[in-house]
Amino acid sequence: MVRAVDLIAKKRNGLALSAEELRALMDGYMNGAIPDYQMSAFLMAVVWNGMTIEELTEFTQLMAHSGDTLSLDEIPGVKVDKHSTGGVGDKTTLVLGPLLAAIGVPVAKMSGRGLGHTGGTIDKLESIPGMQTALSTSQFIEQVKRIGIAIAGQTGDLAPADKRIYGLRDVTATVESLPLIASSIMSKKLASGANAIVLDVKVGSGAFMKTLADAKRLAATMVRIGREAGRSTVAVLSNMNEPLGRAIGNALEVKEAIATLRGQGPADLAEICLTLAAEMAILAGRAADPDEARRLLQQAIDDGRALAKFRELIEAQGGDASVIDHPERLPAAPHVQTLRAERAGYLGALPALAFGEAAMRLGAGRALKEDVIDPAVGLVLEAKTGDYVEAGQPLLTVHAASEADALRCVAELQPLFVVGSDPVEAPALVLGRIRAEDIDVDQDELLAAAHEAREAAYVPYSHFAVGAALRLRDGRIVTGANIENASYGLTNCAERNAIFAAVLGRKDKQQARKADIVEIAVVAGSPDPVPPCGACRQVMAEFCAPDTPVILANLEGHIRRTTVGELLPGAFTPEQLASSPGLQHV
Ligand code: URA
Repeated sequence: MVRAVDLIAKKRNGLALSAEELRALMDGYMNGAIPDYQMSAFLMAVVWNGMTIEELTEFTQLMAHSGDTLSLDEIPGVKVDKHSTGGVGDKTTLVLGPLLAAIGVPVAKMSGRGLGHTGGTIDKLESIPGMQTALSTSQFIEQVKRIGIAIAGQTGDLAPADKRIYGLRDVTATVESLPLIASSIMSKKLASGANAIVLDVKVGSGAFMKTLADAKRLAATMVRIGREAGRSTVAVLSNMNEPLGRAIGNALEVKEAIATLRGQGPADLAEICLTLAAEMAILAGRAADPDEARRLLQQAIDDGRALAKFRELIEAQGGDASVIDHPERLPAAPHVQTLRAERAGYLGALPALAFGEAAMRLGAGRALKEDVIDPAVGLVLEAKTGDYVEAGQPLLTVHAASEADALRCVAELQPLFVVGSDPVEAPALVLGRIRAEDIDVDQDELLAAAHEAREAAYVPYSHFAVGAALRLRDGRIVTGANIENASYGLTNCAERNAIFAAVLGRKDKQQARKADIVEIAVVAGSPDPVPPCGACRQVMAEFCAPDTPVILANLEGHIRRTTVGELLPGAFTPEQLASSPGLQHV
């Protein structure tokens, strides 16, 4: 019989669990034989030692099949789901759904309520008077077959293992683990029955992933899980340093979604919706490439089909569709306060998280699960990062339940609006795209190891941390990071530390030169991938063949490929020493 303690020890020791072992762990946990404390210990071991892609796929599938799974087979066509890792002012589902349905892509969307800044898609939809979001599975499927779209709260008990495990992670400091985050998100997507998945992975201060490098790693991991599970998966990386669009708050966001479906929405919201919808249309087989997809989608906005589909959706789910033509019929807050620019100039960065939290304090979101949302309250940014504003021009409108709330919110947010004389560049919105065919599994693994090693760098003087990872012929990966010294010259670089570790790992020291390094990756936080120093090049030439590939990367994932021979042509090597008769006897 498999004992939980042995599985925990195996993961603690950095070994991979087999499919059978993972199944025993999950079954035991779900049937109560394995208690929370053992699952927690296992999760902590994953935080430290990660999971192989095989483990990750199995673990995700086990969570996906731990409860009900939705079958969308009755709905003709390719069903494409979308998931956003969450951000401030993110109302893309309200725009994407009708837009895709308008060009004939079936939209069977299960959405959630929000915990945090603003409500989730379901809370936003429920700000439309009369709108029902609790549909039975058969009503849900029937509606998609009839009008091409349904957006409803989750039916059934999808991925209950994820729910329980997430509860544990929340209180055992094990949320921040790339494999655990990726498997948690993907388990719910796999259980929801779509054939293909588009992931909007947000990056920035208002997002779960704060850096592009982390977001790319998460995105690539989820795309790989999707691929292994037989679902075509694409990830788009998008900026969440400032709120998306202008509105933050449930009814305010519905209003903005209506404007966007009319072709009159904020440019950033329209752009991300078209980008994501184009990827979804391609996966659904409706368009061959992004240009064709965007043409079809833009036509549906221009000729009113997209907005008509939203009207049809609202009517089908019992809502008051007159809000399409009369958005003023959506819930409105009794107190509106405007914050104006004190001087003319360019507006600086608007930190997404601070605006999200301010909207939550107004009542637009939930701090606790049981909090009740006020659909009417929220914020509207009247200007965005990089805009030129005149003195007295509105910067923000606060929609509040009381005058005191409105004044407090204005006072809180005023310092965040910095207007200066120098032009400020508006942030780039779409930061990248990862498709399954773009993923080089081996390269990603080596770079991930170098990233991780970099975190151990000792760099109190330069603060310039570098990580290196070497792949050895037997498949092992050996890593190193730079270690500095108050006597600067004693500093050792990441590459050298990794190579020395690989050499020391050889049993036969006579064969030390044949450390069998077959690939090298170096990661640094520099604008361009940073090349190794001269000393490291000489050490590489000692222990690696000239054609050994070297991947140089920065934290944003920009990569330069080279070889040991290119880095140090005409290197002084032990062969030259060996061929010198005089020196042989020294
Ligand atoms: N969202 C999820 O669904 N799961 C995580 O682990 C993190 C974010």
